[in-house]
This record gives sequence, C-alpha cells and structure tokens, in this order.
Amino acid sequence: MLTERVQRFDLNAGCELRFAANNYSDISLELINGYAEIFGTELIANQKYVFPAKFRVAVFSWTGGTIKIIGGTESAYISSESTAMVVYLNIHATLEKLRKDREASGKDFGVTQRGPRIMLVGPTDVGKTTVSRILCNYAVRKGGTPILVDLDVGQNNISVPGTIGAMLVQKTADVVDGFERNMPLVLNFGHTSPGENLPLYETLLKGLASTMNSQIEENPAAKLGGMIINTCGWVDECGYTCILKSAAAFEVDVVVVIDHERLYNVLRRDLPDFVTVTHVPKSGGVEQRPRHIRKIARKENVHRYFYGTSSSQLYPFTFDIAFDAVKLCKIGAEPLPDSCLPFGMEVEDHRTKVVVLEPSPEIKNHLFAFSRSSNVDANVLTSSVWGFCVVTEIDMEKRSLTILCPQNSIPSNILVYSVVTHLDDQLRR
Ligand SMILES: Nc1ncnc2c1ncn2[C@@H]1O[C@H](COP(=O)(O)OP(=O)(O)OP(=O)(O)O)[C@@H](O)[C@H]1O
Ligand SMILES: [Mg+2]
Repeated sequence: MLTERVQRFDLNAGCELRFAANNYSDISLELINGYAEIFGTELIANQKYVFPAKFRVAVFSWTGGTIKIIGGTESAYISSESTAMVVYLNIHATLEKLRKDREASGKDFGVTQRGPRIMLVGPTDVGKTTVSRILCNYAVRKGGTPILVDLDVGQNNISVPGTIGAMLVQKTADVVDGFERNMPLVLNFGHTSPGENLPLYETLLKGLASTMNSQIEENPAAKLGGMIINTCGWVDECGYTCILKSAAAFEVDVVVVIDHERLYNVLRRDLPDFVTVTHVPKSGGVEQRPRHIRKIARKENVHRYFYGTSSSQLYPFTFDIAFDAVKLCKIGAEPLPDSCLPFGMEVEDHRTKVVVLEPSPEIKNHLFAFSRSSNVDANVLTSSVWGFCVVTEIDMEKRSLTILCPQNSIPSNILVYSVVTHLDDQLRR
C-alpha cells in the first residue's frame, strides 16, 4: 500500500509556511491548532483543504499554529520574515480608518461618502494580485463590502483573459478557488496586453469607472467599502501612462507601489497631491513566473470559466447557431494611411471603431463576448458583457457555428471577437 507523505509544521507568531505542491498530485492541508490564514482568509481548524498539483500557497499566522500537509511537496519551508504581512496589515488599518472617517463625516451631512480607493502597482511578479486579495479579505472580515477591480487583461481574476472587470466582494476568498465570481461587471478588451490597443484600453477604463460610480449610488455599503484595484505588471513607457490614466479614471486616493523605487518616485512626481503614494516591499515568497507559465495560467483561467473548479464544477453546453442568428463584430479597423484619412480624423479613431466581422474559418477557437449592446455600433465599446462563448467549429457550407457556452442559449446575438483562444478539451480537472 502506498503511504502518503505527512509533514507537520509548527508556525510561530509572525511566521509563514510556504509550499508548492508537486507536479503530479493534489496536496491536502489542515490547521491542527492555533490560528492561520491563507492570503487573508482564515483557516477553519481540522478542515481539509485540497490544492491541485503545482499550486503554491503561503500560510501565515499572526499568533502561532500547527499545520499538517499530506502529499508530495516540491518545496516547503517556514519563513520568519514577517515584514511584508505587517506592512499589508498597516495598509488595511489605514483604509479602515479612512472608511470610518468618511462614514462619520457622511453621517454629519446625511449622505454616504465614497470609501477609499486604492490601486496596487508594480512590475510583474511582486504580489499585486495577492495583496489585492489580502486587502479585500481583511475588509470583509471587518464587515465591509469592498469592490475588487481588476484591470489586468493578461491575468484577470474576475473573468477570462482579455477583459477588465469589477465585482462586489461580500465573502472572503475560498483558499483554493479565490473569490466567488458573483455577477461581475466585465468589459471585453479582446487582447492580453493593454499595449495592443491603448486608446481602447483607456476608453474601457473610463467606461468601467463611470459605470461603477453610478452603480455604487444604489448600494451605500459598496460605496463606503471603497475599491481595491489590481493592475498589470507593465510599468514602463505606455504601461506607465496606463497607470496614470487608471488612477485618474478611478479617482484613486492611494497608490501602493510594490518593490519598484523608480516607479514610486515618478508617481509621486506625476500624480496629483491629493493621491497618497506609498512604497512597500514584496514578500520573499512571491514566485517569478516565466512567460510559458503565464500562458498556462491564462489557459487555465479560460478552462475554469467554462468548466469551473474541482470543488465547484460547471457544465457548459455545445450547440450550433446559424450565421444569420448572430452578428459578429470586432473592435479596431485596419489603419488607413494618413493621406487617406478623412479630414479631422486621427489614426487612433480606427482603433476604437466597431466593425462587422464576417464569419470565416479564422475565428475557430476564438472567444467571443456576448455584448449587452443592442446594435453593432459604438455602444459595443463600453457595454459590459453577459459572458463568453468559444467557437469550436465553423461550417462555411451550412453557414453555422458550433459554440461552447456556459448556458444552453445565447444571451445576446451580438458577439464581439477576442484574440484569446481556447482549445476545448472537454476535460474536468
Ligand atoms: N507570500 C507568498 N508565499 C508564496 N507564494 C506567494 C506569496 N505571495 C504570492 N505568492 C505567489 O506568487 C505568485 C505571484 O504573485 P501575484 O500573482 O500576486 O503577483 P503579481 O504581481 O500580481 O503578478 P502579475 O504581474 O503576473 O500579475 C502567485 O502564484 C502567488 O500565489
Ligand atoms: Mg497579478
């Protein structure tokens, strides 16, 4: 009989157990005694948490605790370097104070004031997404309902790659699956780097911010909860401009720069005085992910969108739709040479143009967004989407598409192209 490897770790206060499951099998974790949390979510004692192969986890304890791990690990060690978590807790405390102050001053005038808006920026692999998660979790544990905004079109945590989105966080993240993706507001960008279409990215930023600003007027708790905004790791040249534009669009109060001194200094110089800019270290546990690993993470994200996770499976549908039943479009027309441009029109205008897309074999395996717009016109740009499908087959003779779709009918007949592809393997993980 094969015996599974059991490891026991005694965590002192302020220490973190970092481990990675091996490449072949699941790993299970249990809190035997004391208190511990994973990226801000408290562990329940004696509950088994199962992580898939290759998963990386950090279990932090403020007061001490004992952890049991069953299964093969590629690495597992305890770090006593607690500075990063203390810094993140201090940021949370500052946000909490701002929430309380604004709640009190709003009450004086009989209004609800906006809660603080914080944006996490920094190069790739410094822990921006993890810190956003920690801050959302801490806010929820204090009874708040913050809005998580994800502007990272490469590694989005709210929807599929190629999107930006926002959602209300009412529950702490599941330690394995992350936050419940509960009715997020999602805009389709259609590329995995903002640089592929900067004018469109800026249009979407403004669109998302303005929709969220109106939505929170209907929900005082969300308004007071504030926003925690995650960004992508592109911090140079146009990436820097994107950071400035994101801060302006969302009218952020605080920008936290993780592990990048130059970025911190130029942001202090370029952001308005009312924006507080702080510089914090990254955690020593943050993993550097090479390009191919990011690509795999994107694929897994799309797979999760259609099939769910092992603990919360989804059952997508595959069906045919006639070309005539849908209108396909994409954003961005081919640029015309300057000399051919109509008077007064700039090259940029072409990049935010909504154009009809004729069905062709090239769209096979591409994701399409179901737009909430009722026509193929400029409204498609900033209309949020109902969701996504992937074109799994295309029959030019029968003039029909086969799509993989979360539900058994299409929620909209306006389908917007994304460069993101997905090869449907029909496998559950
Ligand atoms: N304290 C930690 N110990 C171990 N692993 C960690 C820790 N913090 C984060 N990680 C892991 O490091 C990886 C990178 O972290 P994260 O995704 O937060 O970085 P990021 O800055 O958002 O990266 P990107 O620029 O790609 O979006 C993730 O797999 C995350 O789970
Ligand atoms: Mg990230």
